[in-house]
Amino acid sequence: MPNTLPTSSPATNWWHTATGYQIYPRSFCDSNGDGIGDIPGITSKLDHLRDLGIGFIWLSPVYASPMADNGYDIADYRAIAPEFGTLEDFDQMLAEAKARGIGIVMDLVVNHSSDEHHWFKAAKSSKAAPTHDFYIWRVPAPDGGPPSDHRACFGGSAWHFVPELGQYYLGFFSAAQPDLNWQNPKLRREIYDMMNWWLDRGIAGFRMDVISLIGKDVDAGIFEEGPYLHQFLQEMHRETLAGRDVVTVGESWSVSRDTALLYCGRDRAELDMVFQFQHIMEGWDPVHGKWKPRPFDLIAFKRVLNDWQETLADDGWNSLFLSNHDLPRQVSRYGDDGAFRVQSAKMLATVVHLMKGTPFVYQGEEIGMTNVRFERIDQFRDIETLGHYKDAMAAGVSPAEFIAGANTNGRDNARTPMQWSAGAQAGFTTGTPWIETNPNHTAINVEADRADPEGIFDYYRRLIALRKNLPVVIHGRYEPFAEDHPSVFAFTRALDGKKLSVVANFTTQTLDFDVPEGMVCSGTCLLFNYEARENLSGRISLRPFEVLVVIN
Ligand code: GLC
Ligand code: CA
Repeated sequence: MPNTLPTSSPATNWWHTATGYQIYPRSFCDSNGDGIGDIPGITSKLDHLRDLGIGFIWLSPVYASPMADNGYDIADYRAIAPEFGTLEDFDQMLAEAKARGIGIVMDLVVNHSSDEHHWFKAAKSSKAAPTHDFYIWRVPAPDGGPPSDHRACFGGSAWHFVPELGQYYLGFFSAAQPDLNWQNPKLRREIYDMMNWWLDRGIAGFRMDVISLIGKDVDAGIFEEGPYLHQFLQEMHRETLAGRDVVTVGESWSVSRDTALLYCGRDRAELDMVFQFQHIMEGWDPVHGKWKPRPFDLIAFKRVLNDWQETLADDGWNSLFLSNHDLPRQVSRYGDDGAFRVQSAKMLATVVHLMKGTPFVYQGEEIGMTNVRFERIDQFRDIETLGHYKDAMAAGVSPAEFIAGANTNGRDNARTPMQWSAGAQAGFTTGTPWIETNPNHTAINVEADRADPEGIFDYYRRLIALRKNLPVVIHGRYEPFAEDHPSVFAFTRALDGKKLSVVANFTTQTLDFDVPEGMVCSGTCLLFNYEARENLSGRISLRPFEVLVVIN
């Protein structure tokens, strides 16, 4: 073993040993039968999360919002959306979560607000309004058209005209999500005050929505990771986070191995972690993006994840996930949602949770929820899917082809109601849900899975418990093996003479695998999804989606 191994575990923060769990409130649990999940619904399900063993909830936005993008368009940063409840409901959820050892991490959506925020309403009514400059305005191009050709993430132009002012504003996502002008120090002050207001309430931190966009230089055409980004993040840290024992995770679709440590390096005083998406985008078409997924390529996927493990080996910290509210269900995308659903769900969880970093579970993942299969465009609800549908139709794509792409990679897959039971509407609501329930809830649901000793929930519970007790899972050095193997994901973790070997088959085929020298390990089989094997060495046979974890 190399002599560079630390002899004792490095400093440990609470969020190194904790597992995160993301709740998309609209789809989690509806307490009053209006078909929309809400905060009292979440509170009523906290025991489920305590049993799972998670340390904190990342709560997708619950702020007052017209819900053009289900809350990622905030109209009042200090109020709760009435359909989700009240501030009292929020405080009660916070207290009840705390009583179960669970922190609440809020979603901070400050690249843009809603067009119904009072700042924006005033801003678009007059150039003289004090908040006019809280947004990004430009005069029309000489021909009267938009100032640049930039497209909005949810379809159409990124520039939106306000005839009364003769100006365009930037809405990089959609017209309903005007970008905030971070260049304005008064705007930044408002945001920091608001963050402190929530932090003082006792939340456990922030997940920061598309945070890499806030440093943009619009006139230079730079949106992602612009020249002001790190200066603003450092200022934010000084003004809000410094001295508080909270966790921060910044979402960035552009962060690369080259820029990762600028956000989360130990001495940067910016963020604790980033959500990077290179392993996700690896599976997208280079031209048509997510709407035309490529077949899953395990070698490329491993390369990205192994590289990130290496980049953040000694500084910074990885966030680990395959799923969230913007992505398809992981068992459908990377596993098998048919015959091997249970095995592949367990295998995927094992690989993700045993890399170095903090794992995030997305609601329903812990019971192996799958993608939904919609047939008509009117069954979809997502602003992104509906916006791109318009663009695709204008470009001559057939509706069937578009819907096939949306069923594979669209965001509504993650947003169908949480499946609590086999009963009506999966036990999510007594009313009519805002988006259709996946018909497979009669077989796949919390009640059934938790009653099964071989269920996915119990496997997650054991996986989550492991990291609390085993320093090697937290701090162990990561080493990849069989990097060019097209079907097997293999790695070890090592700390203080302890070694953990993980071997996983990513296919529906039984195959023989020659355990590489450096992975040979015998001792205890900590986790398995077929049968235990105490000794990993020589040629082993791996069944479909089989995973084995052995510790010496
Ligand atoms: C992030 C969110 C996504 C949202 C977008 C705009 O990517 O995760 O759901 O639509 O930002 O706020
Ligand atoms: Ca409700």
